Amino acid sequence: MKQNVGTEEAVKRWDAFADKYSQNHTEQGDLHKEVFLNPTLFSLMGNVNNKKVLDAGCGEGYLSRILSKSGATVTAVDYSPRMIEIALGRTPKDLLIDFRQGNCEDLINLEDKSFDLIVSNMVIQDLANYEKAFQEMYRLLVNEGTFIFSILHPCFVTPECGWEKTESGEKLHWNVDKYFYEGAYEQGLGDKEKMLFFHRTLTSYINTLIKTGFVLEGIIEPKPSTEMLKKYPSFEEDFRCADFIVFKLKKNEVTSSIISSLTL
Ligand SMILES: C[S@@+](CC[C@H](N)C(=O)[O-])C[C@H]1O[C@@H](n2cnc3c(N)ncnc32)[C@H](O)[C@@H]1O
Repeated sequence: MKQNVGTEEAVKRWDAFADKYSQNHTEQGDLHKEVFLNPTLFSLMGNVNNKKVLDAGCGEGYLSRILSKSGATVTAVDYSPRMIEIALGRTPKDLLIDFRQGNCEDLINLEDKSFDLIVSNMVIQDLANYEKAFQEMYRLLVNEGTFIFSILHPCFVTPECGWEKTESGEKLHWNVDKYFYEGAYEQGLGDKEKMLFFHRTLTSYINTLIKTGFVLEGIIEPKPSTEMLKKYPSFEEDFRCADFIVFKLKKNEVTSSIISSLTL
């Protein structure tokens, strides 16, 4: 556990890891995105044609490119300068995506109410001040705009978790510990890189979203489809517990003003 580190340190590590991270991304993202996250995100987004969309924490930009090809006007922000360089290098010039370096906790250069839809794919657990990031997403959305984000499932991916195995390596069950710890922790990604993540309980996520003013429209804990299982049979084990959770929220200024008068 690493109590005294924040977003700056987390992003420094993303910047150093950016090239390696991007190597296993095709135009569908990496394998987990292809199997779990993309089908879920697209089903929640619906038709994005002519919508103004923010990809918050865009990484190497695969999702921005898909959205742009689907007719959306896309602004894409990432705090890592190297990620933005890679995204620009991978994006054909005719896709007019506005890539910018910026911190999702403070997007001062973007105007209030400038997006119909904000998507943030696997980013919110990477930043320290999620309350501020949610406030920024709320500020940037038009009234009735939609915020969709995916994160590591906080009930199963905790600062201490992993398979309990027999001596011969058979997976018995998934262990979860330190669920109520909230703050930074390190987790291996890649061969030896240690990334920083920030854990919060499901209660904290949901109460913070409500306090920010969002209306929860739904959550999905993605499972592999039959089609994906045929393609990648090893994902069978993902029916045992969920790695990810995806939230769909709406900004509704009338509801928000009622909720803000209540205390949670
Ligand atoms: C797991 S990657 C996901 C990238 C991309 N959304 C995707 O699905 O491929 C997390 C990304 O979040 C970015 N990031 C982390 N903290 C950020 C912050 N505070 N503001 C903007 N981007 C951030 C990292 O630089 C990294 O590119």
